Amino acid sequence: MSLLAVRDVSKRFGGVKALAGVTFTIEPGQVLGIIGPNGAGKTTLLNCISGLTRADAGDIRWEEQSISGMPPYRIARLGIGRTFQIVRPFPSMTVRENTAMGALFGRPDGRLQPGAALKEADEVLNLVGLGEKRHHTVLRLTVPDRKRLEVARALAMRPRLLLLDEVMAGLNSVEVEQALTMVRRVQEQGVTIVLIEHVMKVIVGVCSQALVLNFGRTLVEGPPAEVLNDPRVIEAYLGERYARRQKPPPDRSPNGEGNEKT
Ligand SMILES: Nc1ncnc2c1ncn2[C@@H]1O[C@H](COP(=O)(O)OP(=O)(O)OP(=O)(O)O)[C@@H](O)[C@H]1O
Ligand SMILES: [Mg+2]
Repeated sequence: MSLLAVRDVSKRFGGVKALAGVTFTIEPGQVLGIIGPNGAGKTTLLNCISGLTRADAGDIRWEEQSISGMPPYRIARLGIGRTFQIVRPFPSMTVRENTAMGALFGRPDGRLQPGAALKEADEVLNLVGLGEKRHHTVLRLTVPDRKRLEVARALAMRPRLLLLDEVMAGLNSVEVEQALTMVRRVQEQGVTIVLIEHVMKVIVGVCSQALVLNFGRTLVEGPPAEVLNDPRVIEAYLGERYARRQKPPPDRSPNGEGNEKT
């Protein structure tokens, strides 16, 4: 049985078709990478799964139970945790307190006592590598640490499925490596992961499956190495990104360069 099944999901914002009939499943233990150009509908897809946005059509099932139209807090309590592309912690609270909020309010097993929530926070902060900074206020954190905090807050809800929206954006290559280690550790805890990333090293480094969205539709889905070498993906996404970064001479074929991006 799939953990999550997204069937023919569509979402329109005014004249913009953000999602135009997306179908895929997430299997337990998988790390699914979602890539695609800006505006392809990636964040909208996560928003539909986590209940923040209601799809216009289609169905989303969690272990065969429809969660379409459920409020976000109920979806979170079923075991679906997420981070946000725009990081928004409580700025005056410490890292530990911020993380404990997840444990206090998002748990499938009901509310924890504050002491237990703080203990839980310490555990997930160690997991994401923020243990030593747990008493810092959020204002003092660097960008990569804020991203780690986002992951910790989501993990404190003990999700079975974790949705990560560009948690590695803006990180340097050393920080990306550290973040990859973090994702692997989370996966080893038995958490299934969906991550949106523009960093191809991440998709190849941790994902068991990759899905490319383009104009709200699935362009290609499959093993990351295959997907990143697919001519359609290179044309719609990688070629353009590569051209912007590297400016290759016009006579050079983009083929074979496609998996070198970022
Ligand atoms: N709340 C909204 N109101 C109006 N339009 C929206 C809203 N949310 C998303 N859109 C539009 O829907 C389309 C898909 O946006 P979405 O944020 O899902 O893309 P994305 O793939 O996450 O892009 P990015 O890589 O830039 O994060 C875009 O054209 C966007 O402008
Ligand atoms: Mg987005």
